[in-house]
Amino acid sequence: MLQWKKRVCKSICIFFCVVIMLTIFQRGTSPGLLFTESSMDSEDVLTAVKRDTYPVPNGFWAAKTEAQVTTASVTDTYSSEWDVKSINCTANWNLTHLGWFTTLEPNYKQFLLYRHCRYFPMIINNPQKCSGNIDLLIVVKSIITQHDRRDAIRKTWGKEKEVKGKKIRTIFLLGTAMKEEERANYQKLLDFENQIYGDILQWDFLDSFFNLTLKEVHFLKWTTTYCQDVSYIFKGDDDVFVSPNNILDFLEGNNTPDLFVGDVLYKARPIRRKENKYYIPESMYSKNLYPPYAGGGGFIMAGPLVKRLLKASETLDLYPIDDVFLGMCLEVIKVKPILHEGFKTFGIVRNKNSKMNKEPCFYRSMLVVHKLLPDELLQMWELVHSNLTCSRKVNIL
Ligand SMILES: *[C@@H]1O[C@H](CO)[C@@H](O)[C@H](O)[C@H]1NC(C)=O
Ligand SMILES: *[C@@H]1O[C@H](CO)[C@@H](O)[C@H](O)[C@H]1NC(C)=O
Ligand SMILES: *[C@@H]1O[C@H](CO)[C@@H](O)[C@H](O)[C@H]1NC(C)=O
Ligand SMILES: *[C@@H]1O[C@H](CO)[C@@H](O)[C@H](O)[C@H]1NC(C)=O
Repeated sequence: MLQWKKRVCKSICIFFCVVIMLTIFQRGTSPGLLFTESSMDSEDVLTAVKRDTYPVPNGFWAAKTEAQVTTASVTDTYSSEWDVKSINCTANWNLTHLGWFTTLEPNYKQFLLYRHCRYFPMIINNPQKCSGNIDLLIVVKSIITQHDRRDAIRKTWGKEKEVKGKKIRTIFLLGTAMKEEERANYQKLLDFENQIYGDILQWDFLDSFFNLTLKEVHFLKWTTTYCQDVSYIFKGDDDVFVSPNNILDFLEGNNTPDLFVGDVLYKARPIRRKENKYYIPESMYSKNLYPPYAGGGGFIMAGPLVKRLLKASETLDLYPIDDVFLGMCLEVIKVKPILHEGFKTFGIVRNKNSKMNKEPCFYRSMLVVHKLLPDELLQMWELVHSNLTCSRKVNIL
């Protein structure tokens, strides 16, 4: 009896040794690193990101190889082309029998009736966009009628170019026109615009506020399909000021493999006032707090996160607010979005008349600033890239 127990003990010990060694082997790191990695909390990450010089040794490329290790475990394969060819989406009338549903505003009803329709066919695709190694993919949410914003972006921060050997590419994400009368004419103009620039992605869903989350998941799926090897992605609105050079500088000093950085809200509450654009009835989300999320105006993420976020998104019901939804996906894959001072997507300062709002030296030191219309953007871009004399004080990066 005693001998038998001894033998069992021995087997268990050997088993654990093997498991521990395998874990270390899989991580491909030294045992010491295993522990420092897990003990590094968000505070450390924050201070690491906030430092004001970006030393080169642990650069951009080191971060990239590490990131690939973490995604190697994702085995699911996705199609190599857009595999949704027809719309097959009927309203879920089952909901109309539910008491809480009947009390909702019409736009919420609309959202909920079609919430289960996840993917739509593409009207305009540019599958070649990511050929070659792209270092920074700039992704802009746009709508069909606002070609002036797209034009201003193409002339400024969305200009496709190479900076210090790093390749930048730009795409615009669109749905279909909201108004019937807009559809035919604007669609022709958009086709023409795409013939010239080849930077439009358009899907066959209505470009409404509540369909922005659809845009988010379509972007995740498209990037997983056609753009797997991109190093970093900047995703943002079409009415912001962005400095791609500052973004590249920032990324050069970065070595966090799961990088997701932006204007992060850590303890946002769902808005319960009905007049508000972001109002959420309790029947749709009952918790008091949202998971941490980055303002959709502009954020950066590591390319390898995209596929993991897509998988996570497919485990969740669509949520009407796109940036909150992405926060929910990040929570699923346990990646913490990092707050960075260079992202001002919720406005620069509370005081709308503050001098900061028109201060080129301030813009020059930022990564993303909300919010500028096309003329203002072109003007500010010119100012920022002219011979500015700035005092050190404004450079808060
Ligand atoms: C659409 O869905 C219905 C039922 O959900 C199914 O019977 C039909 O074959 C589908 N059509 C296409 C084109 O996928
Ligand atoms: C509606 O209810 C029927 C019957 O309970 C169910 O089979 C169907 O899947 C439901 N439709 C949706 C879109 O959930
Ligand atoms: C989203 O787009 C689909 C497809 O065009 C449409 O049926 C649905 O009503 C839209 N949802 C909202 C909330 O606008
Ligand atoms: C900016 O300064 C540089 C050198 O200091 C000069 O060569 C250039 O012409 C100036 N550009 C403008 C737009 O003034």
